[in-house]
Amino acid sequence: MLKIAIINGPNLNLLGIREPSVYGSFTLNDIENELLILSKELNIELTCKQTNHEGQIIDWLHYCYANNFDGIILNAGAYTHTSIAIHDAIKAIKIPVIEVHLSNVFAREEFRHKSYISPVSKGQITGFGIESYLLALRAMKDLN
Ligand code: DQA
Repeated sequence: MLKIAIINGPNLNLLGIREPSVYGSFTLNDIENELLILSKELNIELTCKQTNHEGQIIDWLHYCYANNFDGIILNAGAYTHTSIAIHDAIKAIKIPVIEVHLSNVFAREEFRHKSYISPVSKGQITGFGIESYLLALRAMKDLN
């Protein structure tokens, strides 16, 4: 059975009330529930995490390495655009990471066009709301 982690970064705990015109009105719980349903269908063991702290994301990336995870789906929120430390952690662990975003970051402010995650990721899925995560989980299944 594949072991996949979903890691969500800062402010994603506020989905549902946070800028619904950009991110939709569903909650993080809704996303995780849909992912859990799909993971059962795909025979994947899923672990879902969310934190507002950069170092905690790095600790979880290390944890996934230490515990033989097969893949990580990461929405690093705004750390996507700033974090060399998360970039380095992904490079270090050598587990395939798929970068996801709810919104189409390239259709938004210019500061969101730069990603420190993309160069060290298998690929990026951006702009499809909840579907970004579900597509990433299917892609992860195909990768492994
Ligand atoms: C986001 C896009 C980021 O630019 C933003 O800072 C977020 C959410 C997304 O899922 O669309 O927090 O990662």
